[in-house]
Amino acid sequence: MQPQSLPPLTLIVATTPIRVSEEVTRLGIGLKGTLPWPRIKTDMSFFARVTSRPPTAGKTNAMIMGRKTYDSVPASLRPLAKRTSVIISRDTTGSVQEGVRKELEKRKEKLAAKAAEAKAASGSGYVADPETDAIVTPCLDGAMRELGSREELGKIYVIGGAEIYNATLNMKRDELQGRALRVVMTNVVRKDGEPFECDTFFPLDRLDEGNGWRAASPAEVTEWVGEEVDGEWKTEGDFEVQMVGFEKI
Ligand SMILES: NC(=O)c1ccc[n+]([C@@H]2O[C@H](COP(=O)([O-])OP(=O)(O)OC[C@H]3O[C@@H](n4cnc5c(N)ncnc54)[C@H](OP(=O)(O)O)[C@@H]3O)[C@@H](O)[C@H]2O)c1
Repeated sequence: MQPQSLPPLTLIVATTPIRVSEEVTRLGIGLKGTLPWPRIKTDMSFFARVTSRPPTAGKTNAMIMGRKTYDSVPASLRPLAKRTSVIISRDTTGSVQEGVRKELEKRKEKLAAKAAEAKAASGSGYVADPETDAIVTPCLDGAMRELGSREELGKIYVIGGAEIYNATLNMKRDELQGRALRVVMTNVVRKDGEPFECDTFFPLDRLDEGNGWRAASPAEVTEWVGEEVDGEWKTEGDFEVQMVGFEKI
C-alpha cells in the first residue's frame, strides 16, 4: 500500500551568489552568526508573512531551525510570534531547553497583553492569532515526530541554518513519508554587483534538473506561500531581491 502523502516540507532561505572559481558559484546565507546583509525589509516581511500565515484558520505553522539560527533572532523577538519554533540542539545539559522555556514564557505574557488590547479595541470582530510555541528536540526526526502528533499543525517550514538545511536535504524517502520537498528562495544581490562577504553557505550550489530539482513557476510559488509571487527583481535601497521556488523531482 502507498504511504499516505503528507503536506510538503518547505525550506525557506535567502541566498546570494558567491563565485568561488570559474566553474563554481556557491549560495551564501550567513556571516559571523548573522545574515550577510543589513535588514532588507522586503525579504524580512515576506519571511514573516509566509511563515506565520496558516493554511486554514485554527492551524499554526511550524518552523524548524538549528540552535544557532534561534540564537540569531533578536532576544526581544524570540521565539517568533504566531508560529511553533522547533529548535534542534545536541545539548544534553538541559540549558538550551531551559533558556527557550524561559524566553517562551516571557514572550507569551507580552503577546497575551497585546492580544487583550486588540480584543478590547475590535470587540466582536476580533480574530485570535495563531499560537506562539517553542520546543527543543535533539534531531530532525524527533522534530517531525513531535509535529506529526499535533492536531493544530499547519505548514512546516525549515528556516536554517546550513546544518539544518543539510540534514533536511539528506532526509531519506521513508523519513519524508511522501512529503514533497520544496525550497522558497529569496535571491539577494547588491545593485552595484559587489559580492557580499559570507562564511555560511546553502548546502546545494545549484537547484536544477541535473541535480534533481525543478524550478517552479511564479503561479506555483504563489500557491505554495499564499500570496502573489511574480518572480521579478525588486529594488530596496542598495539591494535587489527576487523570490523563486524549486521542488525536488
Ligand atoms: N540566509 C538565510 O536565509 C539564513 C537562514 C537561517 C540562518 N542563516 C544564517 O546561518 C548561520 C547559522 O547556520 P549554521 O549552519 O551555523 O547553524 P544552524 O544550522 O542554525 O545551527 C547549528 C546547531 O544546530 C544543532 N544541530 C545541527 N545539526 C544537528 C543535528 N543533526 N542533530 C542535532 N542538532 C543539530 C547544533 O546545536 P547545538 O550546538 O546546540 O548542539 C548546532 O550547533 C547564521 O549566520 C545565520 O544567520 C541564514
